[in-house]
Amino acid sequence: MDKFVITGGKKLSGIVEISGAKNAALAIMPACLLNDGINELTNIPEVNDIFTMIKLLNHLGIESNFEKHKLIIDSSNITHQDAPYEHVKKMRASVYVLGPLLAKYGKATVSLPGGCAWGPRPINLHLEAMKKLGANIELEDGYIIATTDGLRGAKIHFDISSVGATGNAVMAAVLAKGSTLISNAAIEPEITLLCEFLKRMGANIGGIGTQKLEIEGVSSLAPANTRIISDRIEAGTILTAAAITKSKIDIVDSEIEHLESVLWKLEETGAKLFKNNDIMTIDARDIDHKSVDVSTSIYPGFPTDMQAQWTALMCLTEGTSTITDNIYIDRFKHVPELNRLGADIEIIRNSTVVRGVKKLKGAKVMSTDLRASASLVLAGLAAEGTTEVLRIYHLDRGYQKIEEKLRLLGAEIERVSTTEF
Ligand code: EPU
Repeated sequence: MDKFVITGGKKLSGIVEISGAKNAALAIMPACLLNDGINELTNIPEVNDIFTMIKLLNHLGIESNFEKHKLIIDSSNITHQDAPYEHVKKMRASVYVLGPLLAKYGKATVSLPGGCAWGPRPINLHLEAMKKLGANIELEDGYIIATTDGLRGAKIHFDISSVGATGNAVMAAVLAKGSTLISNAAIEPEITLLCEFLKRMGANIGGIGTQKLEIEGVSSLAPANTRIISDRIEAGTILTAAAITKSKIDIVDSEIEHLESVLWKLEETGAKLFKNNDIMTIDARDIDHKSVDVSTSIYPGFPTDMQAQWTALMCLTEGTSTITDNIYIDRFKHVPELNRLGADIEIIRNSTVVRGVKKLKGAKVMSTDLRASASLVLAGLAAEGTTEVLRIYHLDRGYQKIEEKLRLLGAEIERVSTTEF
């Protein structure tokens, strides 16, 4: 088990490159199950969730080779159509194999994901979409057993906009017979990339990037290649690291436009932002950050995956801010840990009220999930003294060697092996 030991108070400077988006890759990789052949995916981040998905795909019969951010996926010899509990319990995105397996092989047995670190995360919308497309769904011994004698196009309206359910529905519908209409589809950049990738395979999808997708099923799909977009949440986290340490840094990110809502909020705090081609500069030197409220929503709104990091930043402002999470109403496991560092945060229903304090003081804190861990690292960078962030395996699921990137920028942060839990 590893922990981070951070000596706070160092100014950051320099330039770092943003890695590929793990949430985009986690949708694109199972999409390769829809064809028979060799797919080439580039800009894949080296994070543990990607390794978990590779293991699951290998279990299904996929042959793969992952080197220097390039992932080759050979889908010619699928031998299994099941996602066992051991994979799904590690990562909910494993449920993405449901749609492709059902569409291509007529059956899929996928473990139910269960709860997650911050509360229930149902998959009812995934299952309803599969049923609409003609699948027979049974739940048995903690598994979804989905079968069909051939999916058929359908009208699917999502009551809640869901990234995962949209991804699964699109992957199933591209091989279904006839037309499918999906309304209130997710328009997150990760879903747009998935739809574009499916089109490259030969899928017939209209309305990409809008909340209404029109799909005309085809009988087969061919292998394809794509480059994974930059990780908007990693970009937001690193820009917030510069903001909280009152520093000036540059990031290289070819899709920074995906982060617009966060960039605007950063500007509202008083930070200055400049864009020059692929380089985004943030200059937060010598500023007293203003308190800025945020309320999370679906894309292009402020992402829930930046809520915890924003809370860390708001701890060191002059006034009071309210941060509301409308996507996950109880995603606040970072709050008691930030309070251990001297923050003054109160949770009221699905909001936190953050009363700014003059300083944070280093302490031992514990990661509970991916973005909560990121918020603790940010707080540690700004806190006086030493902060130890335990259980960083959560962070390793989604950030590619964040300590190396931060060290490159001048932060004092070490990964230390520990028996502490
Ligand atoms: N929802 C349902 N039923 C469903 C599916 C979702 O009620 O069947 C609800 C959820 O409980 C939530 C809302 O719909 O309130 C949106 O959830 P969504 O399905 O969009 O989330 P997801 O697809 O499970 C992805 C990301 C998450 C990110 C959310 C929201 C991946 C692999 N995961 O999850 O990323 O928070 O979208 O943007 O793409 C992270 O990276 O830290 C992370 C958790």
